[in-house]
Formats: sequence, C-alpha cells, structure tokens
Amino acid sequence: MKRLILSPPETLTLSPMKTPPDSRPNSAPPEGLEIFQQWDMYDRIVHGNWMRHRELWTAIDQTIADHGHAIKVLDVGSGDGAMAFGGLSDQQLESYVALDLSKDALQRMLDKPTPGQNPTHDAREAIPGDFTRTIKEQPQGHFDVAICSFSLHHLSPEGKQNLLSNVSHILNSRGQLIWIDIYLKPDECRDEFLNRLEHDILNDWVTLTPSERREAVEHIWSSDFPETEMLMERMMQIAGFLHRRRIWSDDLFCMWASQKGQHEFSQNALKT
Ligand SMILES: C[S@@+](CC[C@H](N)C(=O)[O-])C[C@H]1O[C@@H](n2cnc3c(N)ncnc32)[C@H](O)[C@@H]1O
Repeated sequence: MKRLILSPPETLTLSPMKTPPDSRPNSAPPEGLEIFQQWDMYDRIVHGNWMRHRELWTAIDQTIADHGHAIKVLDVGSGDGAMAFGGLSDQQLESYVALDLSKDALQRMLDKPTPGQNPTHDAREAIPGDFTRTIKEQPQGHFDVAICSFSLHHLSPEGKQNLLSNVSHILNSRGQLIWIDIYLKPDECRDEFLNRLEHDILNDWVTLTPSERREAVEHIWSSDFPETEMLMERMMQIAGFLHRRRIWSDDLFCMWASQKGQHEFSQNALKT
C-alpha cells in the first residue's frame, strides 16, 4: 500500500490517515534546504555517483543483519529513496517509511518500482515535514533499521544528538542505525572541509551545469555542518547505540553502523 501522508488540510482529501496539526506558521523549508524542493538536480548528483551512492548501496547491503523476518525501515531525510532503495534491494521489506521536507522527492519515491525483493508487497509510506518533528510521531520500539543518509549534517550538534535519541526510541531491541554523512578529519575545521568539498563540486560534478555547481556550493556553505567521526561515534554512544563501527569511508563521506542498546547511563547504573 503506497501512502503519502500530508499535513492538514491536505490530509483530509488525500489520505485517510490523520496527522496532528502542524503548529508551525507554514511548511516552508529552512533556509538553504530549498535546493531539495526540486529534485532533478540532486538526481543528477546521484547518477554521477558524486556522493558515492553506488559504493554505499553495497555497504548498506552488507551491513543489514538477518532479522529473521521481513524488515521495517525508517528513512530519515529519505529524498526520493535513492540511497535506501539501492541498499535494500536484496531485502524483504515489511514496511518502508520515508520522512522528508521535499514533497517532490517523496512523490518520486512513491513513483519508483516497489523496493526490496517482493514486488507484490508494497508498503511504502511518505511523511512530509520536518523530521525532527515527524520522527516523534513514529511508534516506539517498532523499526528494525533506521537509515540517516546525508541528512543529519544539516542539524546543529544538539539537533543531531536529539535526533539520534529519537531514532533509538523508534528502533526495536535488535534495531540497527545506519548513519551516512560528510565528516571532518581529526583537527579539520568546517571551512577547511567545505573548501575541499567545493573544489570537488566545481571540478568533478560534471552532470551539473556550471550554475548548478555554484548553487550546490552555496548550499553547502549555508547548510552543511559536518562533525568529526570521533564526535559522531560519541553521539551514537550517548544515544545508547552499541557496536558502533565505521563500515566505509573515503576522503569526504563515511558510513557508520550501530545497534540499539541500553542508554549508557543505565548501563553504568547497572554496574554500580
Ligand atoms: C542530501 S539529501 C539526501 C537524500 C537521501 N537520503 C540520499 O542519501 O540520497 C538530504 C535530504 O534530507 C532532507 N532534509 C534535510 N533536513 C530535513 C529536515 N529537517 N526534515 C526533513 N527532511 C530534511 C532534504 O529535503 C533532502 O531530501
């Protein structure tokens, strides 16, 4: 069952499911994220493999554990599902829930062929809106896998930490987190990293026009806030994730995986 769950008043006409009223004055994307409202440009970035989607699909495929049943997946900042669908192509999916601000991207996700190994079971659900809010509306202890791919670097360190805690809440006791992102090298500052990324965008991302490349560069300077891998790992630890390990990286991008555990303070409490 394909579902696009929209905020009121659209909910009333397009979906039988109701979402709580959106208390924000409007649903405009935060500054800098307008680039994702029209998906065509990002689509060409993916097709050029400039953000290493192909390598990451393989890494995701090799990381998903055998959960013993068809899996329930939450995709946080899904875009059009390009990363998740590639990485989950060999999986049996019980459900796939996509959270994103971009309705264009979510509609493209719903228009793609059924993800996973069972074309007769289509349980895609698209939930538009700010994922820092919509993730709190997801059922606790429900999902087997959460994928956060190239979406958390738009948040502040506190925002990332809160989001990871919320991810931990929606995962079941064997649930896995997959966190893919840009990252700072040890001792590298944001400006140094963005200069490296800017150089790659301007010189290599040839599936974009020169003006689109400049737009992409403007986007990273306004909206991208990577962390070091050490801080990413610490954030996962504080959120209660165990078996934290880097699965793949190159000079700019990395993928980490971890497994839900008890919150570190509870574990310490048990030892005393
Ligand atoms: C770089 S794209 C990544 C898309 C996909 N996950 C991938 O790896 O190819 C980042 C996505 O995160 C979404 N996004 C960023 N911040 C968001 C927020 N606070 N709430 C919902 N979506 C957000 C954007 O709309 C965009 O679709």
